[in-house]
Amino acid sequence: MSRLDKDTKIAIIGSGSMGSGIAQVAAAAGHEVCLFDKNSEALEKASTKLKKILDRQVEKERLTRNEGDAIYGRIEFCNNLEDLSGAGLMIEAIVEDLDVKRNLFSHLELILDDTTILATNTSSLSIAKIASACSKPHRVLGIHFFNPAPLMPLVEIIPAVQTSGDALVEARNLIDSWGKVTVIAKDTPGFIVNRVARPFYGEALRILEEGIADVPTIDWAIKELGGFRMGPFELMDYIGNDINYVVTETVFTEFFYDPRYRPSFTQKRMMEAGWLGRKSGKGYYDYSEDAEQPAPTKDTELGNLILNRILVMLINEAADALYLNISTREGIELAMTRGVNYPKGLFQWADELGIEEVLKQLETLQDLYGEDRYRPSVLIKKMVKEKKSFYSETLIEN
Ligand code: NAI
Repeated sequence: MSRLDKDTKIAIIGSGSMGSGIAQVAAAAGHEVCLFDKNSEALEKASTKLKKILDRQVEKERLTRNEGDAIYGRIEFCNNLEDLSGAGLMIEAIVEDLDVKRNLFSHLELILDDTTILATNTSSLSIAKIASACSKPHRVLGIHFFNPAPLMPLVEIIPAVQTSGDALVEARNLIDSWGKVTVIAKDTPGFIVNRVARPFYGEALRILEEGIADVPTIDWAIKELGGFRMGPFELMDYIGNDINYVVTETVFTEFFYDPRYRPSFTQKRMMEAGWLGRKSGKGYYDYSEDAEQPAPTKDTELGNLILNRILVMLINEAADALYLNISTREGIELAMTRGVNYPKGLFQWADELGIEEVLKQLETLQDLYGEDRYRPSVLIKKMVKEKKSFYSETLIEN
C-alpha cells in the first residue's frame, strides 16, 4: 500500500464542483495535484474558477500572493489519463453513475501503480460495488467530501467490506493532515450525513403537504427557534430540488423501500417542473430580482410544534444509525455539526429534551398516523427502559 505523505502526488478525476474543490484542498496542503476531466471545457472552467477563488483569497489577505500562486502552480490540469501515473492516491469525483464509475476504476488499475489507493467521492453508491470492479479491491474506499470542499470541515471515510486496514489508516491520516475532520462510516446508503439528515427535508415537506404551516413559517421555526443556519426549504433550494430529490429516492430504494425514507410528491413535482431552486431562479422561493418574499406566521406555539416534530425525527434517525453501528456517537455528532452545520449534536439535543420526551413525541406521531415512518428506534426505547441518556456513562459501546 502506498505510504501517503506531503510528497504524495494526488490524482483527482472529474473537475466539477467537487473535484475542483478537492484539488484546491490537496494543493493547499502542499501536494502536487493532477486534476483530470474527460471534457476539456470543464477542465478549462475549473482552471479559471480556481484561479479566481485563489485571487480572491489573496485580495482578502487570507493568502499571500506567493502562497496563492504556489497553490495554483501545484495543480496540473490534465486531459490525458496517463498523466496520472505516479499518484499515491486517486480521488474520483465524476458523474454519480455506478456503471461509469466501475468502468473508470477498472480502467485506472491499468494505468496507476499497484499500490495506489483508489477513492470515490460518491454520495450514495455502494463502495463495495465500485471496489468489486477492481482486481485489487482492498485498496478501494470512499472519501466523501461536502460541498464546498475547501470550506466544509467534514470528510466521511467509508471502508468497503473489501478495504484493507492499511488503506483505511493511510487514507484517513492523510485527510486528517489536510486539516479536515474525518469520521468513519459504514458502507450503507447515505453513509452518515445523507441518512441522518433525511427527516430535515422529509418531515418539513410532510408538514407543508398536510397544511400545518407554509414554507416561510417552517423555515422561520427551524432558524429562529431551532438555531439552524438555513430552513429546510431554503436549503433544498440551495442544494437543488433535483439533487436533493434524487438522493432521497436513492436512499429510499437502497433501504429496500423502508417507509421512513419515502420521497415526497411535492418535491418530485418541483423537480419535474424544473423549479430546482436558486440555480433555476425558482424553487420554493422566487429568486428573481424584484421578487417579494412571503412572510412567515411568527406563532411560537406553532413554530415549536414544527421544530419538535422535525427534531425528534432527526434524533430518531441518528439513534438508529448509532444502534446499527453506522458510526460512533462522536462520529455522528461531528458529522451533523461539521458536515451540515447543525447548531448542536443530535444526541446532545436529545439529552436536553429528555429521552422520555423524545420517545413520547415519536409514539404520539406513530399512534396518530399509524405509519411505520414514525416508529421509534429500538435504541431510544431501550434507553428509556434503562433510564439512560446519550451522554450518561453507560452507552452502547461501538
Ligand atoms: P459535476 O457534474 O459538477 O462534475 C462532474 C465532472 O466529471 C464533470 O466535469 C464531467 O465532465 C466529469 N466526468 C464525467 N464522467 C467522467 C469520466 N468518465 N471521466 C472523467 N471525467 C468525467 O459533479 P459534482 O457535483 O462535482 O459531483 C461529483 C461526485 O461527487 C458525484 O459522485 C457526486 O455524487 C459527489 N458529491 C457531490 C456533492 C455535491 O454537493 N455536488 C457533495 C458530495 C459528493
